Amino acid sequence: MGSQRIRIFDTTLRDGEQAPGFSLKVDEKLELARLLDRVGVDIIEAGFPIASPADAEAVRLIATEIRRPIITALARCRKGDIERAAWAIEPAANPRIHTFIATSDLHLRAKLGISREACLESTTENVRFARQFTDDVEFSAEDALRSDVDFLCRVIDAAIAAGASTINLPDTVGYSTPDEIGHFFRAVIAKVSAPDHVIFSAHCHDDLGLAVANTLTAVEAGARQVECTINGIGERAGNAALEEIVMAIRTRQDRLPFETGVDTRQLWPASQLLTHLTGQSVQANKAIVGRNAFAHEAGIHQDGILKDRRTYEIMRAEDVGAPWDPLVLGKHSGRHAVQKRCADLGLSLEGDEIVEVYRSLMSIADDRKTIADADIVAVVQSLRSDAGAGIGA
Ligand code: KIV
Ligand code: ZN
Repeated sequence: MGSQRIRIFDTTLRDGEQAPGFSLKVDEKLELARLLDRVGVDIIEAGFPIASPADAEAVRLIATEIRRPIITALARCRKGDIERAAWAIEPAANPRIHTFIATSDLHLRAKLGISREACLESTTENVRFARQFTDDVEFSAEDALRSDVDFLCRVIDAAIAAGASTINLPDTVGYSTPDEIGHFFRAVIAKVSAPDHVIFSAHCHDDLGLAVANTLTAVEAGARQVECTINGIGERAGNAALEEIVMAIRTRQDRLPFETGVDTRQLWPASQLLTHLTGQSVQANKAIVGRNAFAHEAGIHQDGILKDRRTYEIMRAEDVGAPWDPLVLGKHSGRHAVQKRCADLGLSLEGDEIVEVYRSLMSIADDRKTIADADIVAVVQSLRSDAGAGIGA
């Protein structure tokens, strides 16, 4: 039996762009969409057209130019939203409407002020309405993880009966734990009337730092679409990071026997482009795409890496399209790494020279965070000219 395909639904341009400080202009969204196409995502959620004319325009432009992936747009369960989304995705080769309504009692009562019955009616009516524009309709039950499961399953049954082919169960507020979301997906899939007619999707937020773990557990429990963003950007603490999900699946095939259509060598370029366009960098220690993700400063690690990369690396930088320049020199570095960096810079050190250069560099490292190549060249030159002066005197 071959491994099962997981659809990657990228929402960088919608949920990601909704985050404070991450807004993008229309041409920037198009540039990112082109790169997402190269990354190989299956679905691009290009925006929320009712939110603004610029959002609608960006979705329509992307739908016109990007032909391979499904292009989707978000719409509340409201006719006006759905009509606007339908207009925006109309030029797409593979158009999808993504409509949603909250299903938790808290959201129904406090936010929407409607009853469970009204929620059910709205689901049927609006999914059916969306189907007039495209055969591909995704339905999301907002705040699904805090919803009553019996009621949620009635809503899902209604959405499937009305023609939805993807059912997304978001952990809207990032509240779930991996164990809980695994049980939840299994329970829902076991309970709804026609689970084989649809694809179940996970959409996890990162408020407790569990978005990727929750997403992967949902996959193990039957989700076959995952909603995620480059660099994990998104509302509040963000969404599940696309690059982390994809590389976890690729690296741990023994535990996660699934496949995606992603060209992993495009992950680093995608992260870099997003950082450049938004002006918001990721933290240095961010998995997969952080500056330190493939760097080693400690002497023991550097020594191991120089002998066999697999000692301290479970993935190769090249596989995610990142430059591999792993030896960062700092106060924890060892002599082997210093000697190797000098050799890379064309400075071959012999005998006592190694000891002296190493000592000088470590005293620089005591005051600074890292040692730059320029420091190394300066130290070696200064030691050599001192030695030359001694000989001449
Ligand atoms: O987090 C969420 O619930 C959402 C839905 C609109 C899909 O982003
Ligand atoms: Zn979301």
